[in-house]
Amino acid sequence: MIHQFKIKIVLALILVSSAMQAQHSLPVYLDDNQLIEARVEDALSQMTLEEKVAMVHAQSKFSSAGVRRLGIPENWMTDGPHGIRAEVLWDEWDQAGWTNDSCMAFPALTCLAATWNPEMAALYGKSIGEEARYRNKNVLLGPGVNIYRTPLNGRNFEYMGEDPFLASCMVVPYIQGVQKNGVAACVKHYALNNQEVDRNFVDVHVDDRTLYEIYLPAFKAAVTEGNAWAIMGAYNRFDGQWACQNERLLKTILRDEWKFDGVVVSDWGGVNDTKEAIYNGLDMEFGTWTDGLTSGVSNAYDNYYLADPFLKLLRSGAVKEEEVDKKVRNILRLVFRTTMNRSRPFGSFSTPEHSEAGRRIAEEGMVLLKNDRQVLPINLIAAKKIAVIGENAIKMMTIGGGSSSLKARYEQSPLDGIKQRIGSQAEIVYARGYVGEVSAKQDGLASGQDLSDDRTPAALTAEAVQVAKSADYVIFIGGLNKHEGQDCEGADRASLGLPYRQDQLIQALAKANKNLVVILISGNAVAMPWVKEVPAILEAWYSGSEAGNALARVLMGDVNPSGKLPFTFPVQLMDVGAHSVGDYPETATKDETYKEGLFVGYRWADQQKIQPLFPFGHGLSYTTFAYGKATTDKKTLSGTDVIKISVPVKNTGKRAGAEIVQVYVSDLEASLPRPVKELKGFQKVWLNPGEEKTVTITLDKNALSFFDDKRHEWVVEPGQFEALIGSSSANIQGKVTFEWK
Ligand code: BGC
Repeated sequence: MIHQFKIKIVLALILVSSAMQAQHSLPVYLDDNQLIEARVEDALSQMTLEEKVAMVHAQSKFSSAGVRRLGIPENWMTDGPHGIRAEVLWDEWDQAGWTNDSCMAFPALTCLAATWNPEMAALYGKSIGEEARYRNKNVLLGPGVNIYRTPLNGRNFEYMGEDPFLASCMVVPYIQGVQKNGVAACVKHYALNNQEVDRNFVDVHVDDRTLYEIYLPAFKAAVTEGNAWAIMGAYNRFDGQWACQNERLLKTILRDEWKFDGVVVSDWGGVNDTKEAIYNGLDMEFGTWTDGLTSGVSNAYDNYYLADPFLKLLRSGAVKEEEVDKKVRNILRLVFRTTMNRSRPFGSFSTPEHSEAGRRIAEEGMVLLKNDRQVLPINLIAAKKIAVIGENAIKMMTIGGGSSSLKARYEQSPLDGIKQRIGSQAEIVYARGYVGEVSAKQDGLASGQDLSDDRTPAALTAEAVQVAKSADYVIFIGGLNKHEGQDCEGADRASLGLPYRQDQLIQALAKANKNLVVILISGNAVAMPWVKEVPAILEAWYSGSEAGNALARVLMGDVNPSGKLPFTFPVQLMDVGAHSVGDYPETATKDETYKEGLFVGYRWADQQKIQPLFPFGHGLSYTTFAYGKATTDKKTLSGTDVIKISVPVKNTGKRAGAEIVQVYVSDLEASLPRPVKELKGFQKVWLNPGEEKTVTITLDKNALSFFDDKRHEWVVEPGQFEALIGSSSANIQGKVTFEWK
């Protein structure tokens, strides 16, 4: 009775606007959001203080309490962002040893970003969301959208590159795809977590323009367009306060400016103070490193900042109950959106459809960086013998890298993929070439590979060169790996160069065989002192379960590469703003000021007139494209007008392929310094040989605005603008001029 009465009161409150209708006894329909709010208030009104506090902190490594008495389920989280983490023990990172938790490993987010195809992001989100749902997880810890500030960041492979516009366009469909499954996407790591060195201590200082124009847009898009139901606070500090308890980030920006109504989850161990965690907008605390978490004391979770210390303050009246209510409301809303949504689908796990999705994304993301003499695709009619050289041809890459490590149902290596694709059409010989990391381990999972090889580098090189000399093609497969100090959480790379003496080996192979193809498996840019000596280079990323298949299909020309770089490949570190003038890495004081400001990636290269090794947006195809003359539908615009930029693009080669047409905006008369140009539109267009299509990209006021920090708003100033139409940030094919009035 009491229960029903309360529901009625709540409904009455929410339905003020429908009051007239109700008086005339007409049926009242609540929309989904109103229903959820009614249920949230109802549940909250029945919870004890203890039950509320239990909800706002972890009860195990990846779960938090529900309220059994009221039928409110627990919350179960999972990493993210490339596949569903294997089940771990209750209070440990180690494996639970299940036999039915081997997931589909999807390509790394750098690869997804390199597709420049929001449809691929939607497919990715849908597929990984289905896997999370099937495994009964209601929060997926991903995707990550921290901006690529330095090529040394060990976690760049989990993010979507250097450009806020590209990352925004790709993150939204990923989130929507995940959440269709009744699983919350938890976007991470909010904010300014752009390095792993000192990640728990570094205090980032960045001016407001840079914050709003570079580091926040992808998070904003995730919240305001993707409607993300959760967001993860970062480890680092921002202007003196840890991100997980940062008033400005969590309250002023996230809640007040963006109207976020989801849950703020701390990164694992990201909370450092009870009072700040209570008052500054955090909702859930996870992974705090109290003694119990390493030594297994049974009440470790009660010691969390938002556990007993919080309860004590509430009980004594020192903190008002409304503080915990705010958090619980957000958490209950998440529960009703996910686990308590009775119409959510059942999900699916490790299915052929997910293999197919992973393969398609991997294929579309691979970036052909160089292809002199059309060495690629491999001509199987002419080739009798193909040499495959390099550790990454055989090394499992799904294990390692930190929290994104996966227990994959299968992982096809590049060598196996190539062998399977070529079959008996040519002889394939393999040589190791170099020895990097002989095994991979993470959280009690091991790759099972023992790649140890005692030969000296000289002996390995000699064998590789000999094999290379005898072959028609040499496919060198190297790059980085998921070992600490490479592409891995917890540390940054020591240098831009390739590890394990690969440079010397590549140079020796280039001398031995003119048909050398270098395949880079990495999530980061690398230096290429040998770039002029090697005719063909392909960036193949970490591409998950289907890595081998996807790579083989691109190499043999079954698939025409169509990816473009989501970040700049600099020639040297000093060509990167963060290294040239920024404080990276400020290990002494831990106070790091992003002195390069807005000038990240190509914005820095443009401003300093530096020619990158490979520019942002670059990527070749096995066919060629010709751009016609760009036109606009108007010459001036104002207010809510939009301008349409059109350009005909023709496939002038012999194969079907896709081109990514990019539009960069240049503000010719600004009162504040602006980057030379900024990406504001793009479109991937598929063309058959000889086919021509007109690509039209629409720009509005947002595309022309900058963030005026004095006025604290986005402004567009009257004056001339240019839209530069390019096949990369450095290859501008045409431009149009227009005026904002
Ligand atoms: C990482 C997060 C991850 C969490 C849980 C942290 O160390 O920074 O990205 O989701 O662990 O594994």
